[in-house]
Amino acid sequence: MVDIIEKKRDGETLTKDEITFFIDGYTNGSIPDYQASAFLMAVYFKGMTAEEQGHLTLAMVESGDQIDLSAIEGVKVDKHSTGGVGDTTTLILVPLVAACGVPVAKMSGRGLGHTGGTLDKLESIEGFHIELTEEQFVKQVNDLKLAVIGQSGNLTPADKKLYSLRDVTATVNSIPLIASSIMSKKIAAGADAIVLDVKTGDGAFMKTQEDAEALAHSMVSIGHQVGRDTMAVISDMSQPLGFAIGNALEIKEAIDTLKGQGPEDLTELCFVLGSKMIVAGKKADSLEEARKMLEAVIADGSALELFGKLIEAQGGDARIIHDTSLLPTAKYEIEVPALVTGTISKMEADEIGVAAMLLGAGRATKEDEIDLAVGIILEKKIGDTVTAGEPLAIIHSNNENVAKSIELIQKHIHVSDNIQEKPELIKKMIT
Ligand code: URA
Ligand code: CA
Repeated sequence: MVDIIEKKRDGETLTKDEITFFIDGYTNGSIPDYQASAFLMAVYFKGMTAEEQGHLTLAMVESGDQIDLSAIEGVKVDKHSTGGVGDTTTLILVPLVAACGVPVAKMSGRGLGHTGGTLDKLESIEGFHIELTEEQFVKQVNDLKLAVIGQSGNLTPADKKLYSLRDVTATVNSIPLIASSIMSKKIAAGADAIVLDVKTGDGAFMKTQEDAEALAHSMVSIGHQVGRDTMAVISDMSQPLGFAIGNALEIKEAIDTLKGQGPEDLTELCFVLGSKMIVAGKKADSLEEARKMLEAVIADGSALELFGKLIEAQGGDARIIHDTSLLPTAKYEIEVPALVTGTISKMEADEIGVAAMLLGAGRATKEDEIDLAVGIILEKKIGDTVTAGEPLAIIHSNNENVAKSIELIQKHIHVSDNIQEKPELIKKMIT
């Protein structure tokens, strides 16, 4: 291991065997944390070639179980977002793409952050459960074309262990390490094709477009090296996506979008990502044709209906698709007034996310409980005009004292005298 650390420290390229030696040894405990830490820091400073990243990813995939989806007919397409504030796309895309005939076998997470993950959001539907056996999972996807479950089994233990170590050694923010971490989980989960939504802006992991593109190129290259059809979209996260930030609130926003009544940015992003998924799933030859299919399953109600079938199959109360008042609701709705008149010039998405987390919509640590009912509904987005006293947002809370969240929202939604263009939603496509 000392030789491997030294080699990377000096900026040399590691072989597949050396990388596998490290991953196997670290997973089984024969390589200690202090050597792994030194190795990670060397990677942080010296980087990794595309081939090294491919080897690292595969070694992590092979460190644990891999889900076999071969019993599901058709091309299995997965989608991954690097995460942002109010990102409700998975909830919409799963039924939307499945309604066009692409099987979606989705493994999702909870995670830390401003709101819960997809699983938490789904659990705001009464009765919905995310525990299926692998057999039930496969059968449901074959029968209905869609299922959403929690991560089961011992998937990528090397990544779990390394991610915890990176967290305490200031080595999270390394593109080769992020790319291999994300891709190892997607590959182990069994998808044939992977559509990546890499966010950029204030509310994203990658603050600059340059970094977002570098991460996207790394992940696409890793996917191609291991024989998975992989592509990426770079999308805007300079402001929250859609209007809703919160768990049940985002379920309602997803239902609105499946009805064709969703926010413009969220709807457009779902069309862009969904079109890619349908072409990758070989159900359409072109993105234009795929987009028409997506528009059709929204217009005829079949995407919404399929969302209802998913909920029913997993034990939830499917009546919510027609009556969202059955979702958990917060006790108080409190307006956040604008302090001045002007145009919304900037929204610091991450800080607005913090305001939602303070209400209880998300977890700061793994042990925190989430309040599924609470969150924020934005009334304005960048480029909109506002008059002093008019609401910027509505806070949904179970606690009357929301002064801190109000202050954060007022401080981080900037209102100026200048005209401000709406940010470009789709920055780039990488294939
Ligand atoms: N998300 C992941 O899964 N891994 C990383 O390294 C960073 C973000
Ligand atoms: Ca949203």
